[in-house]
This record gives sequence, C-alpha cells and structure tokens, in this order.
Amino acid sequence: MSTFPFRRALITGASAGIGERFAHILGQAGVPCVVVARRGDRLRELADRYTGFEVLEADLQSESGVAIVAERVASAANPVDLLVNNAGFGSSGPLHESAVERATGQIDLNVKALVALTHGAVVAFRSRGGGYILNVSSVASFLASPNMAVYAATKSFVTSFTEAVHEENRTFGVNASALCPGFVATEFQAVSGGADRVSRTPRFLWLDADKVVRVGLEGVAKNRAIVVPGWQYASMPTVSKLTPRLVLRRIAGKIL
Ligand SMILES: NC(=O)c1ccc[n+]([C@@H]2O[C@H](COP(=O)([O-])OP(=O)(O)OC[C@H]3O[C@@H](n4cnc5c(N)ncnc54)[C@H](OP(=O)(O)O)[C@@H]3O)[C@@H](O)[C@H]2O)c1
Repeated sequence: MSTFPFRRALITGASAGIGERFAHILGQAGVPCVVVARRGDRLRELADRYTGFEVLEADLQSESGVAIVAERVASAANPVDLLVNNAGFGSSGPLHESAVERATGQIDLNVKALVALTHGAVVAFRSRGGGYILNVSSVASFLASPNMAVYAATKSFVTSFTEAVHEENRTFGVNASALCPGFVATEFQAVSGGADRVSRTPRFLWLDADKVVRVGLEGVAKNRAIVVPGWQYASMPTVSKLTPRLVLRRIAGKIL
C-alpha cells in the first residue's frame, strides 16, 4: 500500500540517474508509473520489475516525442496524477567552445519539453480536480554559472516558471514544486562533460539520489514551491539573494 498520495506517475528521464530512482521508489511504494526516455531497453527492464508500469520511448528534444508524452499526460484512460519532469542534461565549458546545437538542445529538453508537459498536466489536472507536478531544477538555478551558462539559465527558468505555476494553481488542488538538488552522482557528469570535476568536488557536497527523490516527493505532496534537499544547500536560495551578483558569479566561475 502506497504511503504517497499519488495514484499513477509519469516520469521523464527514467532510464538513468535520479529519474530511475524516482521510478524505483514509487514502484516499491505501489505507485504504477509511465516511464519515459529514449533508451527503451532500459525502460522495459525497469517496467518488468513492477506491476502496472508502462513504457513510453520518446525523444523529448523532438516535437513528435513531446507530443506523444503530452498525449499520455492528457489521457483519461488510466490517468496520471503525478508528473515528474526530470529529463535534462547540461554542457560544460565556455559557450563559444560548444556546438550551437548542444547549447540550444538544452533549451529544447530542459525548458521547451518541460513547459509543454507542465501545460498539459495543468489543463488535465485542473479538469480532474487535482494533481501533482514536480519539476526537477537544480541549485544552479539560483546563480549564473560560468562554464555551464546555458544549463544554469535553463534551470533558473525552471525554478521561476514552476514557482509561478505553483501560485496560479495553489487554490485549485494542483500542486507544483521545483526540486533543486546539488551534486548527485549519475550519468549527468559524463553526459555534461564535467566528469573531471567529480574528483575535485568535496565529498560532503554529494547528495544521495534516493534522499533527493524522497524529499522531492514529500515536497510536492505538501505543495512546497521550492524544494532544496540536503543541509549543505538549504541556505542557497537565501544566500543567493543576499550576496551581490558579482561575488556570486566569481565564486561560481572558480568552482565550475
Ligand atoms: N546529477 C546532478 O548532479 C544533478 C544536479 C541537479 C539537478 N539535476 C537534474 O536532474 C535531472 C536528472 O539528471 P540525472 O543526474 O539523473 O542525469 P542522467 O543520469 O544523465 O539522466 C538523464 C535522464 O534524462 C533522459 N534524457 C536525456 N535526454 C533525453 C531526451 N532527449 N529525451 C528523453 N529523455 C532524455 C535520459 O534518458 P535517455 O538517454 O535514455 O533518453 C536519462 O534517463 C536533470 O534535469 C538534471 O538537470 C542533476
């Protein structure tokens, strides 16, 4: 029997990392999930382990992929009441050294797909009297990040956008939360080209993926607008507001 209030979840980016942990934790709690990503083999392996899981193979950087997933979010057959917009990637290095497709690709996935699916969920959930939207952002959303300029900007969008959607729907039974983790060891570091940073990042800054997932699920169940897991990062929203931007970006530049 589930200890969560969710009846059925749709998780993007469930083939690896944090998204995969969302699927396991919800599956173990008896919440059936629609798992979305490009690597269908991994999704099918995951789905075989739990009852009622569905696999949706889709590339969320393409319009057709987003349309397939949006259709499932809107569907009244086996309706989902929790959307976890988790799929995302970053790119390390100065902007001029990265291919423009890689820079804009982050906007397609981290921003465009997330907005389209959030839109679909809000429309569906409001018509059904309620639901939950958990958008995976990052602590990078609280500051400009030299050498991860596009990534941090996409996450600033996600946090700001989710906060506004949270407020618009607060009294309509639709919970919306931005989950803002710090470092979590996943495929993200290899995909974003920041694998060399892993050994240089102090151990205490690494968060446990399961803890991040549980804090996120509790946060959206309680309708917290912004959820920051871990004592290490708890003061970041406040500190980033009180610290002059020049100081913040110099520090971020040194770390990144
Ligand atoms: N790890 C961290 O330190 C960290 C910190 C803060 C925030 N985050 C955020 O947490 C989220 C999950 O990241 P992660 O660390 O778990 O990374 P990850 O291990 O690289 O997993 C990323 C997931 O996104 C999916 N994905 C990537 N491109 C996709 C596309 N075009 N269409 C559909 N799915 C796609 C991948 O699946 P396929 O490749 O199979 O499509 C994979 O399942 C991201 O939004 C990330 O920005 C991560």
